Amino acid sequence: MIMRLDRLLTDMGYGTRSSVKKDIAKGYVAVNGSKVTRPETKIDTEKDTVCWHGEPAVYVQYEYFMLNKPSGVVSATEDKRETTVLDLIREKQRDDLFPVGRLDKDTEGLLLITNNGELAHRLLSPKKHVDKVYYAEVKGRVTEEDVMRFKQGLDIGDEKPALPADLTILSSSEVSKVEIVLREGRFHQVKRMFRAVGKEVVYLKRLFMGPLVLDESLAPGQYRRLTEKEVEMLCSQEKKQ
Ligand code: URA
Repeated sequence: MIMRLDRLLTDMGYGTRSSVKKDIAKGYVAVNGSKVTRPETKIDTEKDTVCWHGEPAVYVQYEYFMLNKPSGVVSATEDKRETTVLDLIREKQRDDLFPVGRLDKDTEGLLLITNNGELAHRLLSPKKHVDKVYYAEVKGRVTEEDVMRFKQGLDIGDEKPALPADLTILSSSEVSKVEIVLREGRFHQVKRMFRAVGKEVVYLKRLFMGPLVLDESLAPGQYRRLTEKEVEMLCSQEKKQ
């Protein structure tokens, strides 16, 4: 990829556009071993070596992390009071990562964190109907009638009813265990769907998002980079749709 030197450094989190320009002007940046003072210098990210204050500044276009989101953390990039999902990702290189969609503060499970905006848009677009699978624990007995009502599409108080969702009962007792497949991602959707049938979700965890499956070896709060295969799968599904 060919790009301006100041853009490369800004994208990689070395400062704001203006602070990076100042650093370049002061001679703190070298390209292929020679000092460069023009911020508009064109860099070939495949071939050129950029050093900032003597340290290699490697360009990475996209980063992808799978986080097993723990309860108590908010799905935001920054927050004055709360710990965010991005606070948990320590080895990030890019400065523009964001969570793909939101899980409630008390929801656990699969959260993709990336800076690939196009991929995120496609995964979240209501038109694409990407399946999201949740495991939930619900107060009271979940019944076959609930399954039917989820299948019909429930009125959850929005302008349009929720799209039909597949509800599978894993066990039904004082606290029932269920799996739900949603094809959209409205605010508090699982909780609101259960509320619409008079029930309360007491635990919620996302297991899948399209082809991406939560790695169960990740304890809540742990994360890892996506494998090349996972990235390929997400990006090829993105193009198929
Ligand atoms: N549905 C909810 O109610 N909460 C979530 O966090 C995700 C889906």
